[in-house]
Amino acid sequence: MKAAVVDRAGGIPRYQDFPDPEVGEGQVLVTVEAVAVENVDRAIVAGTHYTATQFQAALPAIPCFDGIGRLADGTLVGFGGITPPYGTLAQYAVVPATHTAPIPEGIDPPIAAVLSSAISGMCMRTAAGLSAGETVLVQGATGVAGRLAVKIARLLGAGRIVATGRNDDALQELKNLGADTVINTAVDDADLVQAFRDHVGDGYDVVVDYLWGRPTELLTRALIPDSFAMPKPTRLVQIGESAGPTIQLTGDALRTSGLEIYGAARNMATGMADAYQQVVDWVRSGELTIDVTTMPLSQIATAWIRADLRGTRLVIIPD
Ligand SMILES: NC(=O)c1ccc[n+]([C@@H]2O[C@H](COP(=O)([O-])OP(=O)(O)OC[C@H]3O[C@@H](n4cnc5c(N)ncnc54)[C@H](OP(=O)(O)O)[C@@H]3O)[C@@H](O)[C@H]2O)c1
Repeated sequence: MKAAVVDRAGGIPRYQDFPDPEVGEGQVLVTVEAVAVENVDRAIVAGTHYTATQFQAALPAIPCFDGIGRLADGTLVGFGGITPPYGTLAQYAVVPATHTAPIPEGIDPPIAAVLSSAISGMCMRTAAGLSAGETVLVQGATGVAGRLAVKIARLLGAGRIVATGRNDDALQELKNLGADTVINTAVDDADLVQAFRDHVGDGYDVVVDYLWGRPTELLTRALIPDSFAMPKPTRLVQIGESAGPTIQLTGDALRTSGLEIYGAARNMATGMADAYQQVVDWVRSGELTIDVTTMPLSQIATAWIRADLRGTRLVIIPD
C-alpha cells in the first residue's frame, strides 16, 4: 500500500510503498478516508511526546494514530488503537474491532476527523460545569482547538467571552467568531497582568486553557485580589500546553484568588457521550463550523511542513 513513512526521529514523512498490514484475530481492515494531523502527531514523530517511545522504537513507521475510514461493509467509522510501525497516514489500517465507532450520518470524513478537537472545548461544561451567562476566558484562542472553544462557549450560552492570542489579525477574526474581548499575550509581563485585570469584568468564571506556561502563570498572578475581599471563584480547565509544560504557581495566587484548577479529563467518563452528541448536532445543523484544509496523502512531505494553516486543521486524504 501507499503510506507516509518516517525513517528517523524528527524526519519528514515521505509518500512511499509500505507492506500491507495483516488482519489478525479480533481485528478489522479499514480503508482510510481522512486523517487530521495535530501537534501531538508531530511531537510523536519528533520524539518529544511522552507517548513517543513505541513509535520511535518501530522506525521506519507511519505517523498518526487515529482517523476516519470505511469497514468492508461500507460503514464509515472513526478508528484508533493502531500498533506501530503502522499508523493511519496510509491507504489501509488494521485495528481492533473494538476500536471503531460509527460516524453519524451527515458528517463528512474530513470534518469527522476534527470532531475530537471540537469536543475538547466541551470541557468547559464537562469539567468546569459552565452555566449560561458566565464569563469564559479561552487561553490560546487563535489555534484550531481554541477557535472552536470560542464558538462552543457562544453556543453554550456564555455571557461574555474573552479570548487570548499572539497575533492581532487572528485576534480580530475571533471577534467575528463570538469573542467579546481579546487580549494579546505577546506583551511585557506587567502589561499582560494588567490586561487580564482590565478585562476581568465581574470575574472569569471559567478558563479553558490551551496554553499553560507564561500566559497562565501571569493570569494566576492577575487573579490575586488587592484587598481582603472574597473573590469569585475561577474554574480553570487545563487542556493544552502550547506555551509551556509548567507554571510557577505561588501560594498567594492559589490562597487568595478562589482559583480552582481541573484537568480536562474531569468527568469525561460520564460526560463524553453527551458532549459528543451535542457537537455532532451542532455540526449537522450548521451552528458549528469546523475549518479544515485537506491535502492528498501523496503530498504529505509538503503538507507536513506547512506553516500557513493558523486556525485551520490539516486533514490528509489518501489518494
Ligand atoms: N487538537 C485537539 O483536539 C486538542 C485537544 C485537547 C488539547 N489539545 C492541546 O491544546 C493545545 C492547542 O492545540 P491546537 O490543536 O489548537 O494547536 P494549534 O492550532 O497549533 O494552536 C496553538 C495555539 O497556541 C498558541 N501558541 C503556540 N505557542 C505559543 C507560545 N509559545 N506562547 C503563546 N501562545 C502560543 C498559538 O498561537 P498562534 O496562533 O499565534 O500561533 C495558538 O493559539 C496543544 O497543547 C494541544 O496538544 C489539543
